[in-house]
Amino acid sequence: MSQTFSYDAVEYPAHVYPQLHPSRLAAIARLHGVEAASPAGCRLLEIGCGDGLQLLTLALAYPRARFVGIDLSTTAITRGEALRQALGLDNLQLVAGDLLAWSPAPPGFDYIIAHGFYSWVPDAVRQHLLELCRDHLAPAGIACISYNALPGCHLRRMLWDVLKFHAGTDSDPATRIARAKECLELLQAGLPADNRYATALAGEIEELQDRLNPSVLFHDDLAELNQPFTLDAFMREARAHGLEFVAEASYHEMSLRNAGEAVRPLLETLAADDVVSKEQYLDFLTGRRFRQTLLCRNEARPTPHPHAAAVGRLELVSALMPDAATPDAQGALRFSRPGSGGVRTDHPVMQALLALAGPRHPQPLPLPALLDEARAAAGSSAAA
Ligand SMILES: C[S@@+](CC[C@H](N)C(=O)[O-])C[C@H]1O[C@@H](n2cnc3c(N)ncnc32)[C@H](O)[C@@H]1O
Repeated sequence: MSQTFSYDAVEYPAHVYPQLHPSRLAAIARLHGVEAASPAGCRLLEIGCGDGLQLLTLALAYPRARFVGIDLSTTAITRGEALRQALGLDNLQLVAGDLLAWSPAPPGFDYIIAHGFYSWVPDAVRQHLLELCRDHLAPAGIACISYNALPGCHLRRMLWDVLKFHAGTDSDPATRIARAKECLELLQAGLPADNRYATALAGEIEELQDRLNPSVLFHDDLAELNQPFTLDAFMREARAHGLEFVAEASYHEMSLRNAGEAVRPLLETLAADDVVSKEQYLDFLTGRRFRQTLLCRNEARPTPHPHAAAVGRLELVSALMPDAATPDAQGALRFSRPGSGGVRTDHPVMQALLALAGPRHPQPLPLPALLDEARAAAGSSAAA
């Protein structure tokens, strides 16, 4: 008797990931010299799209753009297809099928996204994904592929192995989830104090408890197939398929400020030669566990450093509001938004710019015009 596909048996919670929005991918690509397509008229493919929630939101927002999603889970695609029909979206196609046996019809795509996919599928599927990017990305197309990262995931793997051992060979999802939860309690009750292994494991348990969702526990943490990669290994595969590193979707994580001050000059030297090498050493230092890497065709020649001049051709969307009515004694003002980070600046034009943009959220604002407005509000000239 054939076994039910795990994602048909247990629904994976659908999310909309802001870091995968084509406007963000386009902005990062353009900063790095790749003139990625405007989202408004783009063609975007999502692989392992689940029920297509993310694609549904994009198809609603950009009626002139074309979206395709593929997923092996028939139940997920059926759910998404019902929503697509109810919303009357004819710019979205949802395909139920195995990526391994699928090739899209021409023309290619400006964006190919695979989130929560690469680490959890067999090697043949991974290879097919990279081949598909090579063969179907537009000349300035951008792929965004996420995966579990090493060496940070060595720590997570320690806990995954214990949980999988305790869950045993029973394939029933409810039993596996219950056994894993039981194991977490057992570990929490019994880990000795003053032991380096126990301290590391306790940290992992705490992190897992914070994001505990039974379905995610079953699919992500208890998965038989869950292969993390160093960035170096991932990029060797990508380069073998004619693809080049552009940047990370969580752009701020590329900042050298994530490493101690003493090693930043060394990282800068590495970056001048090969940005992938700098990123790899950053992972060694920070123990990063997850990457969402942007790739392009190697002929697109992305630049390792962002072009400052490209900023002037972008649009700004900001939900940040000032924390106080006036700057503090040092002239600095912090802008933030509930449940998120913030930015503190003592630059009067930046303060004026953020103060102007926040109330207009989520409208995208062309930067040159916004900058002129901010300069006028701050009484500053362009030369200043
Ligand atoms: C961990 S979920 C990620 C879902 C979504 N992308 C996200 O990040 O929230 C992995 C998805 O990949 C799909 N999948 C796994 N193997 C596949 C294959 N060979 N072809 C197409 N989809 C596949 C699963 O059905 C599942 O929906």
